[in-house]
Amino acid sequence: MASKGELGLVFGAQWGDEGKGRIVDCLSKYDVYARFAGGDNAGHTVTVGNEIFKLHLTPSAITRPHSVVLIGRGVVVNPKTLVEEINGLRERGIDINPSGYLLDGKSRLITKAELLEDALWEASGGTFIGTTLRGIGPTYSLKMLRRGPVIDMIAGEHFDEISLRKHFEDRIPILKTLAQNRNVHRALETLQDDIQKDPDNQSKQRAFDFLTAAVSFQPINIDAEIDALAEYGRFLYQYVGNTIYRAHHDYDKGKRLLAEGAQGTLIDIDYGTYPYVTSSHTGLAGFLESFGFAPETVERRLAVTKAFQTRVGSGPFPTELHDDTARHLRGTGENPWDEYGTTTRRARRVGWLDGVLLQYALEVNGATEIALTKIDVLGGLDKVGICTGYVKEGKVIAKLNRIDGDELSGLNPENLIIEYLDGWPEMDRKNLSWETLHPNAQKYVNRVEEIAAYPVTMISYSPEREGIIFRK
Ligand code: GDP
Ligand code: IMO
Ligand code: MG
Repeated sequence: MASKGELGLVFGAQWGDEGKGRIVDCLSKYDVYARFAGGDNAGHTVTVGNEIFKLHLTPSAITRPHSVVLIGRGVVVNPKTLVEEINGLRERGIDINPSGYLLDGKSRLITKAELLEDALWEASGGTFIGTTLRGIGPTYSLKMLRRGPVIDMIAGEHFDEISLRKHFEDRIPILKTLAQNRNVHRALETLQDDIQKDPDNQSKQRAFDFLTAAVSFQPINIDAEIDALAEYGRFLYQYVGNTIYRAHHDYDKGKRLLAEGAQGTLIDIDYGTYPYVTSSHTGLAGFLESFGFAPETVERRLAVTKAFQTRVGSGPFPTELHDDTARHLRGTGENPWDEYGTTTRRARRVGWLDGVLLQYALEVNGATEIALTKIDVLGGLDKVGICTGYVKEGKVIAKLNRIDGDELSGLNPENLIIEYLDGWPEMDRKNLSWETLHPNAQKYVNRVEEIAAYPVTMISYSPEREGIIFRK
């Protein structure tokens, strides 16, 4: 049999924002880079010299000349975001041409209807997830219903105005029904108060604008939406094709392909802290689903985890902190890497690294190794904590094989086994090697490795391309 290429996967082992984009950017030996799930709820930051790129849909390797990038059919695409992203990258001198940039024609299209629906589900009561309001959940639900538009309808051989018009006509009565829920009006009042107190809060403003539009008599101007989609389609047409075919073709020819996960295992639709999750498979399962490779072909499965834990939005977070240490971990927002969301600017919740959840995420995805990011942020603390178990009803739980029920509920600080290691001074984020890393930081990395039972092969100590230690 002819020898084939290589397949690798980078996935998030926490609740997202682990530094996946930054790690993908460091793995420059691959030829083809593929996004397989999620949409513009993702925000992947890559720092190259003085430039900071914040990518929502395009794989992070785009800043590396000659990389081929694919946006697979498991991705949900807001065409406005994608067009703006491509134009923004071009303005910054990144070469984007159709031979190296392919968007799957069967990837799902996010329209104004799904953006409004996302806000309405959030406001209409029940579970408040704290979504990014990017229309992700409604778009994936339409896919499962075998309804809803795909990219080919705007950027395929012909513009499918009939289907698109029908899509909006079908959705408007549903939006109107959702908008009649009493809770929506209450949510609007609360949002209005919140915005008055905090006028810079963009995510609340966005929710307010969507809800206001949704409760109005005519929430969508179909003609205007169709015109906008036609324009995005004309722009995207040149990039649209079959990413499954392209990925397999390149792999069969011996090329190396790296899949870039979005979100993280703990917000995976099936393996995460349901219902406080996103609507896709964020790791290995999502890649296999989107690109049709067999599991055993993915030789390298690299789990990215921060050296501490963060979460945006609602849901359980056993090791969450609210004290001075939390302020240290989150930062003030002054540094580009401080813990404020790339997509929504919301302050992230922070806490100690949860070794129990880390092990879980590694096993769910059959990890082969770990990339540990933001070790520098722990610098300057007297003690550094890591959770090695939970105590529930007198029993120690050091390992979980599922977390979608009440496994994480009712865990208070006194239920946690936190091991404290000696800290190390602030790091200057320059020219570090394993040998020059402070001995206490080395001990911390070794302890993470022991708890996780997988090797830490990459240690990131700065957002810069060079700020990484590769370890055998
Ligand atoms: P992603 O969604 O997993 O790609 O992660 P994000 O880009 O949302 O968040 C990670 C943030 O941390 C970005 O601002 C990165 O530039 C930054 N970052 C990644 N690794 C490191 C690191 O080792 N040290 C510091 N200080 N920042 C880092
Ligand atoms: P990256 O790729 C962190 C969270 C949202 C919310 C939940 C559901 O940058 O790691 P959604 O809009 O997806 O329906 O929201 O998931 N979430 C993320 N949190 N990083 C992300 O992406 C996220 N994408 C979604 O905050 O709690
Ligand atoms: Mg992010």
